[in-house]
Amino acid sequence: MEKIIIFDTTLRDGEQAPGASLNPQQKLEIAFSLEKLGVDVIEAGFPISSKGDFAAVQAIARTIKLPVICGLARAIKKDIDAAVEATKLARRPRIHVFLATSKIHMQYKLKKAEGEIIRLAVESVSYAKKFCSDIEFSPEDATRTQKDFLFQVIEAVIKAGATTVNIPDTVGYTEPEEYGRLVRAIKENVPNIDKAVISVHCHNDLGLAVANSLSAIKNGARQVECTINGIGERAGNASLEEIVMSIDTRKDIYSGLKTGINKKNIYKASRLVSKLTGFVVAPNKAIVGGNAFRHESGIHQDGVLKERSTYEIIRGEDVGFLVEGMVLGKHSGRHAFNERLKKIGFHLNKDQVDKAFDRFKDLSDKKKDIFDDDLRAIVDDEIRVAKPIWKLNSFEINSGTKIKPKAQVVLIKGGKNISEVSSGDGPVDACFKALDKITNFKAQLEDFRLEAVTSGKDALGQVSLKLKASGLIVSGRGSSTDIVEAAVKAYIDAVNKLETK
Ligand code: KIV
Ligand code: ZN
Repeated sequence: MEKIIIFDTTLRDGEQAPGASLNPQQKLEIAFSLEKLGVDVIEAGFPISSKGDFAAVQAIARTIKLPVICGLARAIKKDIDAAVEATKLARRPRIHVFLATSKIHMQYKLKKAEGEIIRLAVESVSYAKKFCSDIEFSPEDATRTQKDFLFQVIEAVIKAGATTVNIPDTVGYTEPEEYGRLVRAIKENVPNIDKAVISVHCHNDLGLAVANSLSAIKNGARQVECTINGIGERAGNASLEEIVMSIDTRKDIYSGLKTGINKKNIYKASRLVSKLTGFVVAPNKAIVGGNAFRHESGIHQDGVLKERSTYEIIRGEDVGFLVEGMVLGKHSGRHAFNERLKKIGFHLNKDQVDKAFDRFKDLSDKKKDIFDDDLRAIVDDEIRVAKPIWKLNSFEINSGTKIKPKAQVVLIKGGKNISEVSSGDGPVDACFKALDKITNFKAQLEDFRLEAVTSGKDALGQVSLKLKASGLIVSGRGSSTDIVEAAVKAYIDAVNKLETK
């Protein structure tokens, strides 16, 4: 069996999605999950882009053992130096250099002619090669690059030491047949192509990223760049889970090919990325959406009960999707609680278990049946920020149809209570205004979503929101049976992220 190399760029291209920004600790948490998932390469970040990204790539390189750890660089010495420095402690580092090759990019963005582009590409690959044996080169906007020029660039960078050549569909412009033909043409027209792995990197502007990547595989690409839940610039990247499960499910079509992904960890990785980026997974998202394995219509349910394969091509449990059941209640003890947490993938330290258990007990006073999703939400709340700067002490609101809503919020910072009162258009607005007064952040609310974690009138409400301050967008999440409290917690979560940026 030939292996398709899974190059995960959730932490680099994925994190470029507006509002997806992650701090180094969160990036490391995702990197652990990617390692468990069995990805071959983790593109950990773009080290020159910020101090935080450099620190994140360095921490991942130091800590994560199995996958190759890759840092991105423009074809500029200082970028390459930063990527080399940030990845040097990895067992197997990779430097990924990119330079645009399409006429549009060369003329308007780089203002350089073809000769100069080839010279820069070769110089930067040769320079990176002095420090690292594993070099990937990307001719950015390859799918809109004139073919003969693309072949020349690829040949030249392989000669200079590139071991992987990536063919990015940077703007999501290509379509499956055309992209497959391009990969085939590269194999047929670049004389030294056997010395490098052909990689593909597809954006989803036309909704074709996965289809394009699969077509490239059929035509000889052996590395796929993808992200968990398909997050990434604009409409995102090819989704890892969809590519992996396509190859796995249609063995008849992808015969002789396999990936090293531990499928059972897919759902967990998806939920972690969703939680930390604040990007909710659409219920109908293939493979990891909440409805992906649920059957609603009577005819389908009847069919599945008689024989699963009537309406299921993948079993939910194969990708780690647990069928939720009623799990715990008021009388469940700490041991049962912790055992259930382990079963759904949370291995917490004693302090975290204690905190989560207190939350669980509070919740079980308000809510009769507690489901796995409730547990995920409360654990998510309790362990997300190890040492939050701001913590909620209490809040009180006065609201109704005939009065202007007013809120008093008390936060704790460094052991001290700080309290403020504010009015607003509604109870949530009044709380947010009081929070702004306390924290002194003039943050703008960019997005606000409220979801019920499970069904029923007593369901936990989960608020996901995005705040913008000083050009940064951060996400926050909070849950409670009281939706105003969920909103307040989400706001504090986002403010804590802004404080550590
Ligand atoms: O989309 C793109 O072209 C990229 C490159 C840096 C590979 O992300
Ligand atoms: Zn990209």
